[in-house]
Amino acid sequence: MNNAMNFSGGPGALPASVLRETRDAIEALPETGLSVLGMSHRSEWFRGVLDEAERNLRALLGIPAHYHVLFMQGGSSLQFSMLPMNFLRASGRHAEYIVSGYWSAKAPVEARLEGDTRVLWDGRAEGYRRLPAADELQLSQDAAYLHYVSNETVEGLEFAGTPGLPEVPLVCDMSSNLLAAPIDTERYAMIYAHAQKNLGPAGVTVVILRDEFARRAITGLPTLLDYRTHIAARSVYNTPPVFAIYVLMLVTRWLRDEVGGVEAMAAINRAKADALYGALDAEQGFYRVHGERSCRSTMNVAFRLPTPELEAHFLETARREGFHGLEGHRSIGGLRASLYNAVTLDAVNALSEWLGEFRRREG
Ligand SMILES: Cc1ncc(COP(=O)(O)O)c(C=O)c1O
Repeated sequence: MNNAMNFSGGPGALPASVLRETRDAIEALPETGLSVLGMSHRSEWFRGVLDEAERNLRALLGIPAHYHVLFMQGGSSLQFSMLPMNFLRASGRHAEYIVSGYWSAKAPVEARLEGDTRVLWDGRAEGYRRLPAADELQLSQDAAYLHYVSNETVEGLEFAGTPGLPEVPLVCDMSSNLLAAPIDTERYAMIYAHAQKNLGPAGVTVVILRDEFARRAITGLPTLLDYRTHIAARSVYNTPPVFAIYVLMLVTRWLRDEVGGVEAMAAINRAKADALYGALDAEQGFYRVHGERSCRSTMNVAFRLPTPELEAHFLETARREGFHGLEGHRSIGGLRASLYNAVTLDAVNALSEWLGEFRRREG
């Protein structure tokens, strides 16, 4: 089994205990004797799964009662569209975007279809190697919202602080770092994250939405594209991805019971990132980390070797050694090790050691 060494950018590694429980649940759930794949979304059992998933997320992230927790479909990409549909269209305001990488560049493209969209900062010309400093953002107090991506999955850049003005609703795509470390949830009007990094399998996207912000949404949208539909129906307006939500619930249990919460997870994630960046920095002339040091992500470590040929050779030998999912995103190439929550420190230590060995062998 290669699951322990899965460094994929997503869908990625899931905890071993969750995989075992999921395997059993595909055959038969202990509570119902039925396969999880054949459970009705209107069953009491599933209502219990949804409620527990929500409860666990609230406890893990400190989400207060005046926020809704929604389980939606369409991935994070649909949120790029739904956000401006609901909160920019006909608002009489403009929306602000920070473009700091491949994924955050996609969001304003959708917003422009809905209204006045201003990109406050764009790192593209610099090859998305750093994040903006606070004094590089010309923020205005009357924006409908400010959108940013807290962790750029492709380039491996992670915001250490939180941008924006307190009076402007802050919206964040946390697809690749939600549940990796504690967050100041109440600073945000809306947070969204698809599951396939730290939360579970693909198919479900978590949206955390402040009630007061949700009330500002325009009316007259197609039913399924209106956040209020999902709030009113408690995430079962239509058939939700029952299986994905079930596994997500198991992951939240694992994080609570086996890891001991998000703070404990953050300490492990820090140790993982330190080990890997340490190994790369030890061979600096050979390995080159994509992002500037001050913006390095704890979740996605994007790096290069001196030549594309060496990179291809690296990937091939890595696979033979049992390390999987190390190819960089197709937009920038190179290599990337994703260190999501379920990737263990042992796995990262093994990869770090192997980086040194590959350098000695090939360099
Ligand atoms: C930060 C971020 N946002 C959005 C997306 C797009 O997500 P989806 O494929 O769920 O639409 C990704 C994909 O990996 C991502 O990493």
